[in-house]
Order: sequence, then C-alpha cells, then structure tokens
Amino acid sequence: MTEIRSVAVLGAGTMGRGIAHVAALAGYRTTLFDPHRPALEDARATIHRRLDKGVELGKVAAADARAAAERIALHGALAEAVAGADLVIEAAPESMAIKVDTFREVARQAPADALFATNTSALSITEMAAASGRPQRFAGMHFFNPVHVMRLLELVRGLETSPETLETLRGVGERMGKEVVVVNEAPGFVTSRINALIGNEAFRMLQEGVASAEDIDKALKLGLNHPMGPFELVDLVGLDVRLSILEFLHRSLGEAYRPNTLLVQHVRAGRLGRKTVRGVYAYDREGKRLPP
Ligand code: CAA
Repeated sequence: MTEIRSVAVLGAGTMGRGIAHVAALAGYRTTLFDPHRPALEDARATIHRRLDKGVELGKVAAADARAAAERIALHGALAEAVAGADLVIEAAPESMAIKVDTFREVARQAPADALFATNTSALSITEMAAASGRPQRFAGMHFFNPVHVMRLLELVRGLETSPETLETLRGVGERMGKEVVVVNEAPGFVTSRINALIGNEAFRMLQEGVASAEDIDKALKLGLNHPMGPFELVDLVGLDVRLSILEFLHRSLGEAYRPNTLLVQHVRAGRLGRKTVRGVYAYDREGKRLPP
C-alpha cells in the first residue's frame, strides 16, 4: 500500500483550506495550491486562526498547532504544489470541465504513483478518474464544512477505484480524525443527495409562505434536532454550490431535484451566503448575522 507522507490540496476556498488544515494537523507535509495569491494568504490566516482557536478550546496542543502551521506551504504554481505529493486532493469549483482539466494537468506534474482524490460534493468520480489516466488510484474524498470540526469523511468508490486505494484513503481520513463511510458512486453520494432535497424543500416552503425563514430554521433545529436550520446551512455551504448540486441531481435523478426558483433568484442576485455577506440572511464582514 502507498505510504502517504505528503498531501497537495488544490484550491484554497472554503473546503480546500479546511482540508489543508486537517492534513497538516494529521502530520502530513501539506501544500496548498491556488492561482489567486490573495486566496492563499486568506487561507493561511483562516487556518492559523482556527488552529489558535483549537488550542484555546483545549482540542489541540499548542506545539501540534505550531507544527501544523509550519507544515503547510502555499503555492501559486500547480507544478510546484504537486511535484512531491503522495496524495493530491482537488477542491476546485464544482464544474466537471474545471476538474477534468485540473486532473489532466496534475497527471502530467505529479509523481506517477501518487493517489488522486476529488472533494466533489456530487459529480462523477469515474469521469474525473478517466481524465486523470490513473482510475485505479483515484477516489472521492468528500469532506464537510467546517472541515476541522465535522466528523464524517464520505469515501467514494469510482468504477475502477482499487481496494488498495480505498484502504489507503480510509487510513488518511482516520488519521485526520474522521469517521469514514464508503459509498459507491451515485449522484450526490449519500449526504449531498439528501441534504439537497431538504434544502430545496425549505426554499419551496418559504416561497409558498408556509413560514418565515427564521421559523423554518427554528422548527428543524428544535423539532428535529438538526444542528443548523436549512437556511443557516445553505448560507454556510453557499447557495451557488447548492444550486449546482441540485442542477446536477435534477439532470441525473429527475424531477424531485428540480431547483426551486426562489433559490435560483437568490443566486442570480449574487446572494450566495456568508461568503458574499448576503444569502437568505445578511451578515456583517466578521460573519455575524444581522437582525432582519
Ligand atoms: N479546532 C478544533 N475543534 C474545534 C474548533 C477548532 N478551531 N472549533 C470548534 N471546535 C469543536 C468544539 O470544541 C466542539 O467540540 P465538542 O462537540 O467536542 O464540544 C465542536 O467543534 C463544535 O464547535 P462549537 O461548539 O463551537 O460549534 P457548534 O456547537 O455551534 O456547532 C457546527 C457548529 C459544527 C457548524 C454545527 O452547527 C453543525 O454541525 N452544523 C451543521 C454543519 C453541516 O451540516 N455541515 C455540512 C454541510 S454540507 C457540506 O459541507 C458538504 C457539501 O457537499 C456542500
């Protein structure tokens, strides 16, 4: 089985920075690639802030946090980021075209025996695996936001993913402190498929005037024990991300997943969630929710 010592994470957005954080804390030499330098600097600040918070909460030893921060190298050039990687985890935007292009390029730059994984929330592992030219050494590693707190890793088996690859990646996930479930490739896997339906239904109810966004959230939190309401959650995940998952599920699985038009309108208005300080709710620059 391949021994994983270094991990390259592609994309310094919400998920990529979270994955780099848990990879470094797990003791892997970690590179984080993004073509946009400000995104890398912002990711570094986020990771440092969260590591400090982990120390403050008594979850992480101060020396481990310091060592983790030192293990992360930021790269604006893809070739440099993946050159010495044993495992490459892609966390680029949710577009098959972008992901396929990325893996074609990475296959030319990364060591021949490196494993590849995608953090896609829903798209086909097998299609990306084919583009990478190493389908047996390819799988889905679906992390959850916020990555350093959420306990699950959904490991997704593509058509040709080898058992060795899955076992190696299971070990990586466990070393990152995650509980692992293995899922055969299917649109949206387990979590995104169900989550997208709940979120879409919540928008439908809001549009129908069944209840206010606040009360729909409150009902699911207090009546069904969800840790966050569906609108709080979609503001965290990103309405654009949710819409693109629904569009894919609609194409793949049919009518039940047709994106609600109020959600579509929010995305067209640029109300993408916390990251744009306006989603279903409004936030200040520090991410604090503003009163309605
Ligand atoms: N380092 C280490 N641990 C930390 C930490 C840090 N920087 N910050 C917080 N923690 C720990 C806390 O100590 C706490 O641990 P215990 O449970 O052992 O006490 C735990 O993490 C939770 O932290 P908080 O108590 O501060 O936060 P909370 O209770 O308010 O919960 C939440 C916050 C975890 C985000 C919770 O609201 C939640 O679970 N929400 C749902 C999130 C969700 O569903 N995410 C998935 C979205 S879908 C997705 O991501 C995938 C996709 O495909 C789009």
